[in-house]
Amino acid sequence: MKIIMLGAPGAGKGTQAQMIADKYDIPHISTGDIFRENVKKGTELGMEAKKYMDHGLLVPDELTVKILLDRVAQADCKNGYVLDGFPRTIPQAEVLDKAITELGEKIDYAINVDVPDENIIRRMSGRRACLACGATYHIEHIPPKKEGICDKCGKELVQRDDDKEETVKNRLDVYHKQTQPLIDFYTKQGVLRTVDGTMDMKDVFTAITTLLA
Ligand code: AP5
Ligand code: MG
Repeated sequence: MKIIMLGAPGAGKGTQAQMIADKYDIPHISTGDIFRENVKKGTELGMEAKKYMDHGLLVPDELTVKILLDRVAQADCKNGYVLDGFPRTIPQAEVLDKAITELGEKIDYAINVDVPDENIIRRMSGRRACLACGATYHIEHIPPKKEGICDKCGKELVQRDDDKEETVKNRLDVYHKQTQPLIDFYTKQGVLRTVDGTMDMKDVFTAITTLLA
């Protein structure tokens, strides 16, 4: 099963993608996580991506597309995957489409996690992330068992650099201009499904698994 998660920054794409990946035993591929991992390691790619991420801007398509295509070509993707944060522009979607079509395959679902802008800024300020394994928490809604420590791998949780209020506003702006057109793109392909992302995360997940059944 090949799934794309769509939605504004902070809509819960990562949270739901991880749950989908666990349930269906397919890899969760987040371009944001890949970039953050590279920033942390100080790689050339990370340094380049950071220039954009810190301002809430998109990393250029040329860089992003290559990383994603390399990743989905790996052996663990043969039974499918859940893409989180890719594609984010029409050119990215077109490249992905071409690559998948050439393999004689298709995207099964593009799941749009719908959350209004008003809710987003509140959510982001409470988010804590594990840079080691990619797990995400919220200090009120989804707290870790031990404050500041990841339940899954025991590493320290941090607030993301791009979760400052000003940067979140920029990210929302970029989302509306560059990423929202993908909703039309996947509607035309007949694979778009929208879920109400303002519900409790378990209810959002139930809505998604009902769609996938
Ligand atoms: P990326 O990491 O993809 O960030 P994003 O899209 O801005 O999305 P987020 O990760 O912020 O939100 P999310 O939807 O995953 O929400 P989450 O589950 O964490 O990208 C970061 C940057 O990398 C971009 O700005 C760009 O620069 C670059 N980049 C990445 N991909 C790119 C691409 N393809 N092209 C170009 N540039 C790219 O949830 C948010 C919070 O809410 C958490 O605290 C969570 O615990 C909580 N929460 C989740 N669900 C619920 C719920 N139902 N109720 C209450 N709280 C909830
Ligand atoms: Mg995410």
